[in-house]
Amino acid sequence: MRTLTIRQPDDWHVHLRDDAYLAATTQDVSRYFARAIIMPNLVPPVLTRLDATRYRDRILSQVPEHRSFNPLMTLYLTDQTSAETIKDAANSGIIHACKLYPAGATTHSDAGVNAIEGLYPVFEEMQKHDLRLAVHGEVTDASVDIFDREKIFIEQYLEPLVQQFPDLKIIFEHITTTEAVDFVKASTHNIGATITAHHLLYNRNDMLVGSIKPTLYCLPVLKRDRHQQALIKAATSGDPSFFLGTDSAPHPVSAKENACGCAAGCYTMHAAIELYAEAFANNNGLHALEGFASCYGADFYGLPRNTGTIKLIETEWVCPSKMRFGESDLVPLRAGEAVHWQVVNNSSESS
Ligand code: DOR
Ligand code: ZN
Repeated sequence: MRTLTIRQPDDWHVHLRDDAYLAATTQDVSRYFARAIIMPNLVPPVLTRLDATRYRDRILSQVPEHRSFNPLMTLYLTDQTSAETIKDAANSGIIHACKLYPAGATTHSDAGVNAIEGLYPVFEEMQKHDLRLAVHGEVTDASVDIFDREKIFIEQYLEPLVQQFPDLKIIFEHITTTEAVDFVKASTHNIGATITAHHLLYNRNDMLVGSIKPTLYCLPVLKRDRHQQALIKAATSGDPSFFLGTDSAPHPVSAKENACGCAAGCYTMHAAIELYAEAFANNNGLHALEGFASCYGADFYGLPRNTGTIKLIETEWVCPSKMRFGESDLVPLRAGEAVHWQVVNNSSESS
């Protein structure tokens, strides 16, 4: 039985939602992640320093007493975001990034950005204050095939953005393609990328062959095997541009298994580091897990690395087929199936 002790990890991209859902998500994320970048796509979104401060307080009120968890807040960019809002965010000490959702690209992105060039003054201000830009990198043009949307976004928007703002630190979120891996590798150290556990563990065959699996539907959508292999190679390579971001995105079962459609988002927070460990172990990459999960993200965000450790063992346990989620139920990734790693202790948790 293999074991692995690593520095305590952080999650650089997570959706905790709000209200009745917040207790469950905060409970799960604070099990062993010390910090997490909290996505702002609430309804209505987190638009200002005040919104972020209040949301942060609501999260902190749900952290179990014996744990310490630091939510790192983000703002949601719209066509109306002003340079003043950015300055205020940068001075807040609690806001670490702004999130760019192209309007209509994904769940709760309707209030997102329609004209990316229109936000150039905002990016200028972010660059000036060293505030990071987290990007959902997919075009929304209805004529572009959904499997090509990330690739086209790189050409149409990311390349010009990087040229225009060479000192802006950009996180290309939840990358899914070989083109995204190549783009990040060819960029300066100002460009980082998060990779989810589900994009490392699955490809579109897993989602579509036999029957459509709602638990595996997310955006950007899972791609073909060749892209999955490129992501695995990047994540296990030790290249500090690539780091952990679960994009754990819960939806009640009624929104995932619905005759009118399936909401995009995979819930992985019940077994996040365990699923990453499995992906890394399956590809002879366990030695690279600590850098990816616990070092490179903190370095990219200019924050200290954690000092505690967690210990994982290779052992099989079965995920619950359903979890409680506010007044509803949620079907997590791997529901009713085995996970092959488990966290056995966390040196930073007081008992
Ligand atoms: O699948 C996704 N779900 N992708 C996103 O970008 C958003 C997320 C959500 O909020 O549910
Ligand atoms: Zn997300």
